[in-house]
Amino acid sequence: MVRRPMMSSLRFLCSAFAVAAVLALAQKPAPPPVEEKLPLAPPEQPIAFSHKTHVTKAALKCTNCHTMGGEGFQAGIPKEQICMGCHTAIKKDSPEIVKLAQFASEKRAVPWARIYRVPDIVWFSHAAHVKDKGFTCDTCHGDAGSKDVMFKEKPTNMTSCMNCHAKHKASNGCDFCHASQ
Ligand code: HEC
Ligand code: HEC
Ligand code: HEC
Ligand code: HEC
Ligand code: HEC
Repeated sequence: MVRRPMMSSLRFLCSAFAVAAVLALAQKPAPPPVEEKLPLAPPEQPIAFSHKTHVTKAALKCTNCHTMGGEGFQAGIPKEQICMGCHTAIKKDSPEIVKLAQFASEKRAVPWARIYRVPDIVWFSHAAHVKDKGFTCDTCHGDAGSKDVMFKEKPTNMTSCMNCHAKHKASNGCDFCHASQ
């Protein structure tokens, strides 16, 4: 894993600089604690995809589709080709699969409405939480495998991150989550 070293004086200077950069970037002080009103209603999706069907009926693992490729910062949304591995045969005449097949054959990404997202100034790595620390998907996303329609159930605001960091003795320095490089 990427171990964060003990804070040297150089690192202290760097992080002080990073804090200044964050504040300059955001041009505001730390936002006041917020409480998200959850769950949110599910957004409309271009294809009626069900997690429940795929996790229970097709017995897929989360990481079969959300592969955490590369350095694993993102869990990732599966490419249409992964879907077509099954759907060139399974239910190929159903209207939803016809839509899917069309995206795949035109090499266009299905424009899924996004549900969990933090702004670009936030540094978040799936690998750091899942692979290094062993947190399971449901800790931050709820029981995804039981849902026919995905919706936001767990918070992603700054207070929610900091509460868990405090609980697990992880850093809550501004530069930890707002690295400026
Ligand atoms: C491992 C095989 C497999 C993969 C990969 C897969 N599916 Fe499926 N899918 C299934 C099975 C099995 C069903 C249930 C079929 C049934 O109800 O008989 C299904 C059902 C569906 C349905 C409902 C079809 C209908 O009209 O009932 C949709 C839509 C769908 N899948 C979309 C997708 C999408 C989008 C992907 C890629 C993100 C995907 N699937 C990947 C196996 C797969
Ligand atoms: C067959 C492939 C497939 C499997 C297996 C699968 N997912 Fe997904 N997942 C998708 C697709 C496609 C989307 C985008 C459509 C949607 O939101 O329903 C998605 C969306 C999501 C999102 C919301 C992403 C966003 O927009 O922020 C989360 C969270 C998620 N999946 C978690 C999981 C978890 C946890 C599991 C295992 C229990 C899992 N998924 C299993 C294909 C899959
Ligand atoms: C510690 C909390 C946490 C855990 C554990 C976690 N996620 Fe996430 N997930 C997030 C956050 C925060 C985002 C928004 C990230 C962003 O916008 O950059 C996210 C975004 C996603 C997305 C949207 C696409 C993407 O890559 O940004 C998917 C899909 C997803 N998570 C699936 C999963 C799956 C599958 C697991 C388990 C293998 C998992 N997550 C574990 C917090 C978590
Ligand atoms: C379920 C508890 C939990 C939640 C929720 C959580 N974290 Fe963490 N996070 C941890 C732990 C534990 C570590 C490991 C700290 C260590 O190794 O010293 C960590 C590590 C990190 C790291 C360092 C990763 C690296 O590459 O070294 C960053 C950045 C981070 N979290 C950002 C976030 C952000 C942003 C959120 C909210 C969107 C968040 N975390 C939510 C528990 C959590
Ligand atoms: C554990 C991770 C974490 C730590 C530590 C953290 N933040 Fe954040 N911060 C976040 C997340 C996540 C968001 C985005 C929240 C959202 O989506 O509304 C955010 C949002 C912000 C924003 C709002 C940006 C905008 O315009 O939307 C500012 C400003 C900010 N943080 C400053 C700070 C300062 C100053 C500190 C140190 C006191 C700090 N943060 C420490 C995770 C963190």
